[in-house]
Amino acid sequence: MTRRDPPRRPPTKRPSVNRPPEADGEKRPLKTLERVLSKAGFGSRTEARSWIGDDRVAVNGLVMRNPDQWIDLERDYVTLDGKEIREQARRYILLYKPKGYVTTYKDPEGRPTVYHLLEGLDQFVAQVGRLDLDTSGLLLLTNDTQLAEALTNPERHVPKKYLVKSSGLLTEEQLESLRRGVDLSDGPTRPAEVTLLRHTPTCTFLEITITEGRNRQVRRMLEAIGSKVLKLVRVGIGPLTLDGLSIGKFRELTAEEVSVLLAMTRE
Ligand code: URA
Repeated sequence: MTRRDPPRRPPTKRPSVNRPPEADGEKRPLKTLERVLSKAGFGSRTEARSWIGDDRVAVNGLVMRNPDQWIDLERDYVTLDGKEIREQARRYILLYKPKGYVTTYKDPEGRPTVYHLLEGLDQFVAQVGRLDLDTSGLLLLTNDTQLAEALTNPERHVPKKYLVKSSGLLTEEQLESLRRGVDLSDGPTRPAEVTLLRHTPTCTFLEITITEGRNRQVRRMLEAIGSKVLKLVRVGIGPLTLDGLSIGKFRELTAEEVSVLLAMTRE
């Protein structure tokens, strides 16, 4: 977004736009108020809503209580506690989540969250999907809400690869059911890629790639074939891998990784 310098003065008038972009003949850079706030990098969309509810947000000098108000980024002057909100640079973070961390911003039970691992990061990034408390591995976090939505959209079929340690000696027939898709309480799963890595006397190591992201999907798939996940690690999302990253650490995506992800979600 281009910003004028010095910043615009609050003109104390209604926001310039109060209808969705489709209703406005010309193409303008519009976003809802909630999104403008969350993209500014200070907090999540839930927090943005609470600031709006607490009358801390003004648009063109007037307190605005509607989180779905359309904002024209070129014309409207948005403030939080009197300070102008500016859109932040996009950030893409790849975290190697350890077991025992919840994938949420605040945990009502006080357990450690993945945000405790992002110390030193000066901007808010939201997690793209979730990993269970007991799952470790690759978690992507970003303030690019469009990319996050595209990556979690089940229609996009973005591949997510997991290493699984599963109870029992799984047979080729059981693996074949996983490949074909199994029936879960929320419907049949799409075909999955499944590779048997090895057996031990009591368990089976597999690599499984799914293109959906349903709640506890891999665990439920294994339960559906009569097994139980003993250990689960997500090792890939699309082109991203954990290579070179230590557990509990994070890094920024490279420009090339970002452009591959963007291209994938536009296909
Ligand atoms: N599938 C699961 O069962 N758990 C996860 O955390 C991710 C995928």
